[in-house]
Formats: sequence, C-alpha cells, structure tokens
Amino acid sequence: MNEKLEKAFNDQINAEFYSEYFYLAMYAYFDRMNLQGFKNWMNVQIQEEHAHAMGLFNYVHERGGKVVLQEIAKPQTDWESPLEVFKDVLKHEQYVTSRINELADIADEVKDRAAVSFIDWYIKEQVEEENNVGNVLKTLTLICDDKQCLYMLDKELAARTFTAPVIG
Ligand code: FEO
Repeated sequence: MNEKLEKAFNDQINAEFYSEYFYLAMYAYFDRMNLQGFKNWMNVQIQEEHAHAMGLFNYVHERGGKVVLQEIAKPQTDWESPLEVFKDVLKHEQYVTSRINELADIADEVKDRAAVSFIDWYIKEQVEEENNVGNVLKTLTLICDDKQCLYMLDKELAARTFTAPVIG
C-alpha cells in the first residue's frame, strides 16, 4: 500500500474511533437526562462508527498495510439541549464527509483503483449519515418547541436498530 494512502487510512481509522467516542459522550448526556430514545439513537450511532473504523482497519490489513492506532482526543461532555447535541452531530458528520472525500482524493492521486472503489462505500454511507442526522435535527428545529414533542421524538428514536453494515 502506498505510504501516503496508508497514513490517510490510519488517520481516518482514528477519526472514526473518535466519532464513536464523541457519540458515547452524547450517549452519557442523554442517559443523564433520562431520554431513553435519544440514548438508543446514540447507541446505534456508536456501533455504526465502530463498524466504520473496523472496516478501514480490516481493509488496511487486507492490502498488506500496517495499522497504527493513534491517541483519541477527549470529547466534549456537556450540551445545553438535545437540539445543541444534534447541531454538533450534523457538523461532525459534515466534517467526516470532507475527510472521506480527501481520502478518496489521495487514493485517486496515487492511482489506487481498488482503494478508490472501497472508499466509494464510505462516500455513499456519509450521504445516509447526514440525512439521518438532518431528519432528527429538522424535527428538533422546526417542530419540537415543547417538552411533549421532545417526549414523542424520544419514543420515535427508541425504534432505531443497528444492522451490521456490509462494507466495501
Ligand atoms: Fe463514520 Fe458517522 O461517519
């Protein structure tokens, strides 16, 4: 595996593990608020991020590269409201999307066609990720302005389930 691409993959593994950690901090926040549905939504998100990180991890090995794990930064622990949490989730997912695009650019640059095709899965996944978050954020921004609505949304988010993705 090209050295520059291997480094970019390792950086993305770190970014995905950070995402898992970031959402775990949000999970703890919702646990403190006793919002079980929001907590469930985050729990699914945590598992998704773990799967994203491991997908990259396994791919580096499959290609004969070396996985080098890095330090995971300390995430924020408090938010003012569920709305502020979801604003941060969307911002974070947009950041991850830009990173995935950069990873694809590097694979392109070093002419690694197999890696380009592998990263395509992540590009599509980010569209889904941003859409999922955007839907919750829309409800929180445009519809929910009282506690009753928050309670209803919490019930809805309790239904989200995790299905292990088939990556690549
Ligand atoms: Fe792994 Fe939410 O991007």
